[in-house]
Amino acid sequence: MSKIGYGGDYNPEQWPREVWDRDYEAFALAGIDTLTVGVFAWAHLQPAEDRYDFTVLDAIVERACAEGKRIVLATPSGAMPPWLAHAYPDACRVDFEGRRHVYGQRHNACPSSPDFRRLAVALADRLAERYGDVPAVVAWHVGNEFGGSCWCPLCGRGFRDWLRRRHGDLDRLNHAWNTAFWSHTFTDWEQIPPPNALSEHWRGPDHTAFQGITLDYRRFQSDALLAGFLAEKAALRAHVPDTPVTTNLMGLYQPVDYHRWAPHLDFASWDNYPPDHASPARMALAHGLVRGLKDGAPFWVMEQTPSTTASRDVNPVKRPGVLRLWSWQSVAHGADAVLYFQMRSSRGACEKYHGAVLDHSGRTDTRVFREVAAVGAEFARLGDVTLGARTPARVALLVDWDSWWAVELSDGPNRAVRYPDVLTAYHRALWQANAALDVVPVTADLSGYDVVVAPLLHLVKGDLPDRIAAVLARGGSFLTTVLSGRVDEDDNAFLTDGPFADLLGLRVEETDAQGADVVNPVAFGGRSYAARHVFELIVAEGGTDVLGTYGADFYAGTPAITRRGNAWYVGTLLDDAGVAAVVRSVLDHHGLAGPLADVPDVEVAERVTPEGERLLFVLNHGATTVTVPCPAAGVDLLGGGDLAAGDDLVLVPTAVVLLRCQ
Ligand code: GLA
Ligand code: ZN
Repeated sequence: MSKIGYGGDYNPEQWPREVWDRDYEAFALAGIDTLTVGVFAWAHLQPAEDRYDFTVLDAIVERACAEGKRIVLATPSGAMPPWLAHAYPDACRVDFEGRRHVYGQRHNACPSSPDFRRLAVALADRLAERYGDVPAVVAWHVGNEFGGSCWCPLCGRGFRDWLRRRHGDLDRLNHAWNTAFWSHTFTDWEQIPPPNALSEHWRGPDHTAFQGITLDYRRFQSDALLAGFLAEKAALRAHVPDTPVTTNLMGLYQPVDYHRWAPHLDFASWDNYPPDHASPARMALAHGLVRGLKDGAPFWVMEQTPSTTASRDVNPVKRPGVLRLWSWQSVAHGADAVLYFQMRSSRGACEKYHGAVLDHSGRTDTRVFREVAAVGAEFARLGDVTLGARTPARVALLVDWDSWWAVELSDGPNRAVRYPDVLTAYHRALWQANAALDVVPVTADLSGYDVVVAPLLHLVKGDLPDRIAAVLARGGSFLTTVLSGRVDEDDNAFLTDGPFADLLGLRVEETDAQGADVVNPVAFGGRSYAARHVFELIVAEGGTDVLGTYGADFYAGTPAITRRGNAWYVGTLLDDAGVAAVVRSVLDHHGLAGPLADVPDVEVAERVTPEGERLLFVLNHGATTVTVPCPAAGVDLLGGGDLAAGDDLVLVPTAVVLLRCQ
């Protein structure tokens, strides 16, 4: 690959041939070189169980090859055909309420259904056999957006098998689930049903009588979906020894633990559909999370919309310049390909008003097409400069699905605590400071980081405390928060002051919770910040500095923010300004705030090429024009010309500067 991959989902099987000609004329105008084909093509690739028909896909692949496009070839298991569900009702999921679904929608196969698995694998096998040696196929794309859960009897059986592997024997399992509580001691594996509305749950999927059971079920479901991916991948590998195999992830997607998937993806990719137009930090977090799946290797944005989504209640179009800004933001955070969903708007069904490179008119003189083409032209001009470049991060943000699940399944102290909110609050502070950041799992090697930030690390497993201790021992900093270090890998409370107590030099004696309307002001660094929801009553050891204290209630004057050496603790949920103040103190101790850290809405991200060249991306996400000092001397690769450090950079809204530093 000699440039950033550009293109996206292409479904010519849904269109007559004459439209294909117009598609390719448009692709040439827009600099589109990469086409993802076959994602939802099962029904026409296999019209009946005993009949395959590759005529149309042959033509699609031939045409793409003839036009010199790179192909991402998908297996179509993201949406099953009606004949499959009709013949094998077990392939349809049973939902949380215990209802067996019938045919409809997509992304809904039972991951434990042997018939679904057999048929999906057989088709993957045929596809790989047929197209495995087509040189234009640069990647395989298994299924689509794996997700959701099933509670059917097959999954129940699969769960019990999974439990046998995890726990070995029932004594271990009963201990792990603390089943002595409420007389739940299991004496036979067959007694264990999937935890749903008919068994352990009440008030929905987050409310369970036994957190350990539900936590294991989430892990099992994530693994069951992964098993489907792996089975198809194995079928592909039998014919395709080298071409990378991936699937499109969804960023901060709660049901699937992407860290459990990561080793099995040849490269990571994800679909970037931010929920609103004020999400640059959240997108940066998701880019970082996906990059962190493969130790910082470049990833792909497999999908983004050129203009609007259709699935939300209200679906605004991307404002002028936003498509370009967000595309470059992807590259700034490590994307080596930026692709769209999709090339041509669907004529009917639920995505008929979803944006596309070509809208229903098929015109190329629209605003959206012009913006798509402009980005395509920039990527073409830039060539391979950014490919393979990495983020030189000295700051790590830990993300952990087990903690996410455990804290949100917890009865007490406060249901208002949502893991993504706390994670994004701490991330936003790091992002605002333009700190070069890796977003990594708790199992990551931490030896390259000077600062490790672990918001809401509720569940602690493995040797993480030792690795944190090693960071501190060599002068690094550790920052963690309220409700961290509370439970072990089975979601049982530690019978001590917790695995971080010694490092932090404190213990949490009580945990108060209040409604969102109750604010307890926390004094820190000469200012007061609003704390809400959860207030830990901290007993600090001698030698632990109390940097922030509560201002109200019977614990007024007691510690809310502490530091022992470089180990920081925030025992409550601070407002954004409070989080930013703490995070900034930690970063400043190591000089790790990035360039333009005090300019709101201006993002600076760095990548270093395999040759050691520094690339600096400066992005204005704000609504106003700002003039900032150029952070380094270099060549402006998009605007042209040389810039000296300190030169005035005038950044209009959505401005992007890409500096090759000298
Ligand atoms: C997802 C899917 C696509 C499409 C888009 C629409 O990302 O993978 O098939 O439905 O959403 O936003
Ligand atoms: Zn199932």
